[in-house]
Amino acid sequence: MNIAIDGPAGAGKSTVAKLVAKQLGYLYIDTGSMYRALAWAAFAHQVPIDDEKAVYELLMKNRITLQRDGETQRIFWNDQDITDSIRTPQVSQYASVVASYALVRQQMLVLQREMAKGGNVVMDGRDIGTHVLPEADVKIFLTASIRKRAERRLQELLQKGHQTDLASLEAEIAERDKRDMEREVAPLRQAEDAVLIDTSELTIPQVVDEILQICKQLGE
Ligand code: CDP
Ligand code: CDP
Repeated sequence: MNIAIDGPAGAGKSTVAKLVAKQLGYLYIDTGSMYRALAWAAFAHQVPIDDEKAVYELLMKNRITLQRDGETQRIFWNDQDITDSIRTPQVSQYASVVASYALVRQQMLVLQREMAKGGNVVMDGRDIGTHVLPEADVKIFLTASIRKRAERRLQELLQKGHQTDLASLEAEIAERDKRDMEREVAPLRQAEDAVLIDTSELTIPQVVDEILQICKQLGE
């Protein structure tokens, strides 16, 4: 069985997907981290972010690898572990810019399908149910109010020692959601056969339980 979890920033996708994968003994694949890795690399190697061809060449000439590390996942740019560098607001914004490029998405699709080919995966992102795994057995679209999502991100970033505030995070998330929903190639949208879950007032275990219930029903 393959499970696709999509939705906007801060809806709880990666937290919940990781736990669902753990419960089922499935492989968790965070596709957002791949766009983040490319964005990080463009910045680190001074490749102009608005130059689609140059960004695409950067992707083609290097290697992005996801490696399981207990319950978490580490991400490598060639042999460099960049896991701890890709969660900053700046990388988030750059990620949604590189994610708007058709050539980049085409290659990411190839890489992501290759990763999922063994089956029994929980994959999260923006276009998993609509493009990467359109045949997924279970499709979930997670959402939450923008205020809630910004509050969650704020907590996370403050814990990691980043300086930021709620208003700038709300603006950052709104800008990114807009870019993700309005791009021409594989925009963020709920697949027709996806189940919508609003996590605004739900705890993490409640969301995980709901998804496991859906898996059970659909798997029977
Ligand atoms: O992957 P995505 O951007 O959708 O969200 P996330 O990184 O999984 O979740 C963002 C933050 O919200 C994390 O710190 C989660 O612990 C928290 N969260 C929550 O408080 N309640 C939920 N129902 C889901 C996530
Ligand atoms: O964790 P958060 O929801 O904030 O973002 P993410 O899942 O790490 O994704 C970062 C960015 O990558 C998103 O804003 C999208 O622009 C892009 N992305 C995408 O276009 N398609 C995917 N399947 C996953 C991420």
